[in-house]
Amino acid sequence: MKQYKRTLVTCALPYANGPVHIGHLAGAYIPGDIYVRYLRMRGEDVVFVCGSDEHGVPITIKAREQGVTPQDIVDRYHKVMKDAFTGLGINFDIYSRTSSQVHAENASEFFRKLYDQDDFVTKESEQLYDEEAKMFLTDRLIEGTCPKCGNPKAYGDQCEKCGCTLSPEELIDPKSKLSGTTPVKKKTKHWYLPLDKYEPWLRDWILEQHKEWKTNVYGQCKSWLDGGLQPRAVTRDLDWGVPVPVEGAEGKVLYVWFDAPIGYISNTKELLPESWEKWWKDPETRLIHFIGKDNIVFHCIVFPSMLKAYGDYILPENVPANEFLNLEGDKISTSRNWAVWVHEYENEFPGQEDVLRYVLTANAPETKDNDFTWKDFQGRNNSELVAIFGNFVNRAVVLTHKYFGGAVPANLKPEAVDAETLASVKPCREALEKYIETFHFREALKEAMNIARIGNKYISDMEPWKVAKEDMDRCASILYTCLQLCAELAIAFEPFTPFGAEKLRHMLRVGLDAGTDHRTGEGTPTVNFYKPGEGKALHTRAASSPATTGDLILTWSMLGTSELIPAGHQLGEAELLFRKIEDAEVDAQIAKLEAIKKAREEAEAAKAAAEAAKKVEPQKPEVTFDDFAAMDIRTATVLAAERVPKTDKLLKLTIDTGIDQRTIVSGIAEYYSPEDMLGKQICILANLAPRVIRGIESKGMILMAKQGDGKMRFITPQEVLANGAQIG
Ligand code: 2FM
Ligand code: ZN
Repeated sequence: MKQYKRTLVTCALPYANGPVHIGHLAGAYIPGDIYVRYLRMRGEDVVFVCGSDEHGVPITIKAREQGVTPQDIVDRYHKVMKDAFTGLGINFDIYSRTSSQVHAENASEFFRKLYDQDDFVTKESEQLYDEEAKMFLTDRLIEGTCPKCGNPKAYGDQCEKCGCTLSPEELIDPKSKLSGTTPVKKKTKHWYLPLDKYEPWLRDWILEQHKEWKTNVYGQCKSWLDGGLQPRAVTRDLDWGVPVPVEGAEGKVLYVWFDAPIGYISNTKELLPESWEKWWKDPETRLIHFIGKDNIVFHCIVFPSMLKAYGDYILPENVPANEFLNLEGDKISTSRNWAVWVHEYENEFPGQEDVLRYVLTANAPETKDNDFTWKDFQGRNNSELVAIFGNFVNRAVVLTHKYFGGAVPANLKPEAVDAETLASVKPCREALEKYIETFHFREALKEAMNIARIGNKYISDMEPWKVAKEDMDRCASILYTCLQLCAELAIAFEPFTPFGAEKLRHMLRVGLDAGTDHRTGEGTPTVNFYKPGEGKALHTRAASSPATTGDLILTWSMLGTSELIPAGHQLGEAELLFRKIEDAEVDAQIAKLEAIKKAREEAEAAKAAAEAAKKVEPQKPEVTFDDFAAMDIRTATVLAAERVPKTDKLLKLTIDTGIDQRTIVSGIAEYYSPEDMLGKQICILANLAPRVIRGIESKGMILMAKQGDGKMRFITPQEVLANGAQIG
């Protein structure tokens, strides 16, 4: 495998039109963070870049809906997302935003260079235009009836009900979402990236040179390439985004999927204004994009074509995209509010950040879509983190305090099993490295957990609490071995559960060399390490200056060795590493989701009923005035009402018509009870020829109105009139 000098890791820039949910975390951000933490512990030079994707039509729609500016929307969510990532220990070197000045300039320059090199093709086409809003409508701003399934709310590019892809022309009765008017066609010019031109190169680069990519990624690329690539428009008629920096492009901006990936470069440039180029242009930089599967085509096909066209830039070495995470069996959806929002989780489960990180890694949708359930969350915490990892550490530290005053005991009476146990960590380390380096984080986590299982089994088998009664020397060796395993865990779990790993190091009074990061911006990279006994405080020193002496600092290379903490080293107090998650806590979360589902179903039912009610029957064939005048329509009052026996639909009504009292049998029992009708003034067709219905002679008909929901309602005058008043 090729050796690199440095690694640039990016995580998809999330859209700033909603908060981050667990699907995002499992798809890209937790795997990215694990990978970066690991590489840094291995001493590699890494820059970890992310930020908010603040352009695109959905943001403008949301702003319009809320009566605020797009900038207001992105300001709000940028902060929510940034804080959510930090809260979960996802420590990007930079989390910037595509509305930044640096980005506007950078994206503009990128476009301009391709434009100057004649890399684009232009096309004039007819697109739908809203004459009232005076705007071209992007696909998402057009709504109409889906020609495939009849969904009246299909978008110009897709029907979310049946999932089909559409073009605005295919929609039945298209309407502008901005003004509700019917859009007209108008000519507009756009710039296209001719992806078809890059196809032969892409086929070779991906299908031949990157056979090692994950099968889901490789497979998706292959099917795109086999389907044939078409030129893609990289500009849009919109007033929110980076303006297209060429003449004749007034009122146009760069398409969000053109500017967003350039955002990775802009953010690196913002972080390292002097040295960013070596991260993007030196072939000795390894570039890795962490994304979800919906972003594959943009990161594997479109962005590489852009980089290739520009020249100079390196290309991604790997794009380890994950599949989707579902929630309690249902697709996660921001618009349907079906999600576990990370900022809410952080508020509702303070101090439990690792649990979410652990569960989302153990259950990551690496090869296929997976499901998150609160019961699984509870189960994995209680039976793995608490019962295995936490339990082992707790027993080891508590017993060391009990028998040895909290100092690591000397290895006074070793037995073969101790060395064998410590040696068995070595293969875990090798497997862990292999799995992380090939982006198999679930498997990697299992290997870390195996170390805890080894420790838990060892302490259970050795029973130091019993041995202590007769052989304190042997007890010392057992606990010495256990504490070495605890230190192994404090290293191995750092990428996965950094809060617990840090707590454990605090208990052991050891630090960790967490490697170089660039969070301080320009200048010398710093090495982060945790000083023993100082809790969460992050210490840094220049990467070039020597390590502090006297502190016990763990390093990745110690994993699988035999002595990590020496005898005599004083431990801190025992603390519980993880706590049980109670039934009531997950039940509350499940109830919260059920309430969301119920509210949604009710809202959908109400909406469907309202839509149905709006449906109007087509007009009947024409009649003459004489036809109408022949009908004798009058007001009348119901004097008595009863059900017609053995029928569900019929009421027998005694009516005062002003002319007479008579009986009318009416099919309204489904909608009105006899009591409802009593005393009501209604309208009747008085001169309808009498008919015998169920043995009762009915003379006339009650006028009823029927709307789209199918329900019949009788017609009543606006004020009470004399019975027999003629209507016409
Ligand atoms: O899917 C998304 O949330 C996009 N905003 C991802 C963009 S990734 C990159 F290109 F910036
Ligand atoms: Zn449809």
